[in-house]
Amino acid sequence: KPAVAIGQQAQTAAAVVAASHLKLTILYGSHTGRSEGIAKKLGGLLGEKSISASVLAMDDYNPKQLTDEENLLVIVSTHGEGEPPEMAEDFHRFITGKRAPKLPNLNFSVLALGDKSYKLFCQTGLDIDHALKQAGAKELFPIVTCDVDYEEDANTWMNAILEKLAALQPAAVSTSATSSVQEEAVVYNQKNPFRATVIDKVKITGRDSDKEVYHVELDLNGSGISYQPGDSVGILTDNPPVLVEQIIERLKLDTDAPVVLKKTEYSLNVALRHQVEITLLTRDVIQKYAEKTGNPEVAKILENDELLDSYLWGNDILDLLVEFPAELTAQELIDLLRPLPARLYSISSSQDAVGDEVHITVATVRYENKGRNREGAASTYLADRIEIDEEVPVYIERNPGFRLPESEETPIIMVGAGTGIAPFRAFIQQSEVQKRKGKTWLFFGERRFYSDFLYQIEWQKALKKGVLGKIDLAFSRDQEEKIYVQHRLAQQQKEVFDWLQSGASFYLCGDMKHMAKDVQKTLLEIIQTQGGMSEDQARDYFKKLKKDKRFQTDVY
Ligand code: 2AM
Repeated sequence: KPAVAIGQQAQTAAAVVAASHLKLTILYGSHTGRSEGIAKKLGGLLGEKSISASVLAMDDYNPKQLTDEENLLVIVSTHGEGEPPEMAEDFHRFITGKRAPKLPNLNFSVLALGDKSYKLFCQTGLDIDHALKQAGAKELFPIVTCDVDYEEDANTWMNAILEKLAALQPAAVSTSATSSVQEEAVVYNQKNPFRATVIDKVKITGRDSDKEVYHVELDLNGSGISYQPGDSVGILTDNPPVLVEQIIERLKLDTDAPVVLKKTEYSLNVALRHQVEITLLTRDVIQKYAEKTGNPEVAKILENDELLDSYLWGNDILDLLVEFPAELTAQELIDLLRPLPARLYSISSSQDAVGDEVHITVATVRYENKGRNREGAASTYLADRIEIDEEVPVYIERNPGFRLPESEETPIIMVGAGTGIAPFRAFIQQSEVQKRKGKTWLFFGERRFYSDFLYQIEWQKALKKGVLGKIDLAFSRDQEEKIYVQHRLAQQQKEVFDWLQSGASFYLCGDMKHMAKDVQKTLLEIIQTQGGMSEDQARDYFKKLKKDKRFQTDVY
């Protein structure tokens, strides 16, 4: 991909001359399209100030060029357990590595995107920020770290950057007085969702399944929203009413007590139901609770990663209130909590096939911990609290790192476990409409054939039509020993490797912590064995696959 000089499009001839004084590169790297969206928006706003910028995906940038840069803006997210997203891996390794160059002539600033419910919040952004300082680069504006509700913090950073860069370029001709960041009214996002009507909702796991998975169809008619196979839909959920009641009861508060959140007044009940996160804990909440209560037992949870991890898993705000009692006012309670973020679901339809609809595949989260029944916010919202014909607030989250191959001829191998099957339903629908010529092979894993074979009839039809070439199934609990998707891959390793050799792209979707790691490990072993390679050679082969976007993941 060539560098896109977005700023230049908005410039006048006079401004181009002025702009030539300031060299500016904006690099973005994230799994979703968030960082790209911010980078391009900033590029456009800078253009209005007659400052032109090269806006580049991190994996399209050669980090050796850093020594030629004068001004660098980095917008980067953090993946899973503090790791860089795939797109940012090489850049991150280069800049944090021993051979990173000195950069005394560089001005920089970092916008870090993250999720406070993970232990290492915004780690990749922090790493890059630290490395650039170590290299002697000058901070244009201090790093801004954003939680999942990133818009406000991102806007703050962008406005600061606009100001700083404008000051660096005294000759700049201001062509517009309205260059500060404003909401774009037509774009649906977390702050401004589209209200999609539920067209259909069907439970697709059998009655005797351990799981409860729903296929949900939403109507996008009138929204103008478009999406691609691989994208996700953000659902603005509410919280389980039972948990809200239990929290209010525990603190002996008045349901209607007024509270203020981001300058808006709500009753306590409404705020807890709709505005703040209560089903998941984050490090931040425990930290604030420790400070608020002064209880050393709470502070202890934060002492090391292991303790924190085990406490974050399966516990919610009510656990803190029960185990480490404190008296809180309604406002103090609300101040502890973070705004309720949207939940992302991989889209399981192709718009070319279903028109103005978007389909998702939702596993309902219900479990028991410490004698209390727990519920996932969005999954039980869709399963229990929303019915057909009612409206759900949604928006589309782009996922440029999970796309069908550019060439229609490229074969694809798809590996999905559980609801990880979702994007592959979209891929197959798209293949059928597009009459893609490349071969297709699907691996699917779930617990039992009888109750958990998601979209069974659709796969059978696709096989019959030849849209799906091959399917391999791994039902883990239909026999004594566990059979997982990676076992099926290993059983057919010769053919898997042949497909890769003939140019196939490999897609992996599902659980990040276990399934994805194990499948990658198996794939590496297959490459090594079948390719007759050393471990290092296999690793390089795998790296090349990633670099060529022939190994793509959508994991959570
Ligand atoms: P299990 O629940 O029987 O352990 C979807 O959840 C499917 O993924 C289930 O069949 C589940 O099996 C399986 N699964 C669990 N852990 C896995 C792993 N590490 N690798 C691959 N599949 C796994």
